[in-house]
Amino acid sequence: MKPQQKTAFRRALLTWYAKGQRDLPWRKTRDPYAILISEVMLQQTQAERVAPKYLNWLKRYPDFASLAAAPPGDVIRAWSGLGYNRRAVQLHEIAKRVMQEFGGALPRDFEQLRSFKGLGDYTAAAIACFAFDGKRAVVDTNVRRVLARIFLGGREATATKIDRLAQSVIPERRAYDWNQAVMELGATVCLSRDPRCAVCPVRCHCRAAPTIHRRLAKSAKGKARVKSQPFKESRRYYRGRIVEYLRALSNGSGATLAEVGKAVKKGAGEREWVAGLVQGLEKEGLVAVWRERGQVRVGLP
Ligand code: ADE
Repeated sequence: MKPQQKTAFRRALLTWYAKGQRDLPWRKTRDPYAILISEVMLQQTQAERVAPKYLNWLKRYPDFASLAAAPPGDVIRAWSGLGYNRRAVQLHEIAKRVMQEFGGALPRDFEQLRSFKGLGDYTAAAIACFAFDGKRAVVDTNVRRVLARIFLGGREATATKIDRLAQSVIPERRAYDWNQAVMELGATVCLSRDPRCAVCPVRCHCRAAPTIHRRLAKSAKGKARVKSQPFKESRRYYRGRIVEYLRALSNGSGATLAEVGKAVKKGAGEREWVAGLVQGLEKEGLVAVWRERGQVRVGLP
């Protein structure tokens, strides 16, 4: 893109964003703790679903100190409804480390942020930019798709190439708005299977726009649907069910493996199968396993 066109492209997207952005609660704060919570929640869960959970979480754990001091079982309970429960344990670990090693404040530096378990390139960049005004591209799958369409006509490209491109288009003084705007476009207009080019503010700058609908229709026709395992048979599904069941137990005495099995699967006689799932969850800090009167019991940690 020529410099002049780049300027017009940026202006079009930023103007659109300023006029029509969704009212999302994490866009009203620059508090590093709140941004961290929102971005970890948003890693695998949609914005509309995250919004109420995020507000409740901040009421319950308003800062690193309160989160670090909470019992792990409570933190896992508070994560209910968000899925991928490991993220709750990781957030708890991050809070403890921030209190112990960083005097209660998240570091500003991208590499230091990256050194926390659970913070990948995407989340570390989001915190560096949204909390600390770093001029860093925040690039997830949606952003990659948007940029690949606009600049490369939707052609396949390596993540490294697109990341470099993303870094090169950030406006000097509007990194925050820019990153939010590209994300907003990917979430509401430049959708993966059904891009809404007719209402796109940067359609005239997009190399993919003239042919994208034809190309998507063609590739959908040609593609045999790959049959993947139904979610309700996957390990992830049953791991989630086990944690959900243990959350609902109000006592601290947990349940036996047989009870866990029965609760999550009809006629779950497969002790080995349940024990395997529980072992994995224990390793990740999501459940505790102990012996009581010769019996194995399982509960939240
Ligand atoms: N997805 C990930 N981060 C987001 C953000 N800050 N706003 C909206 N959607 C997001």
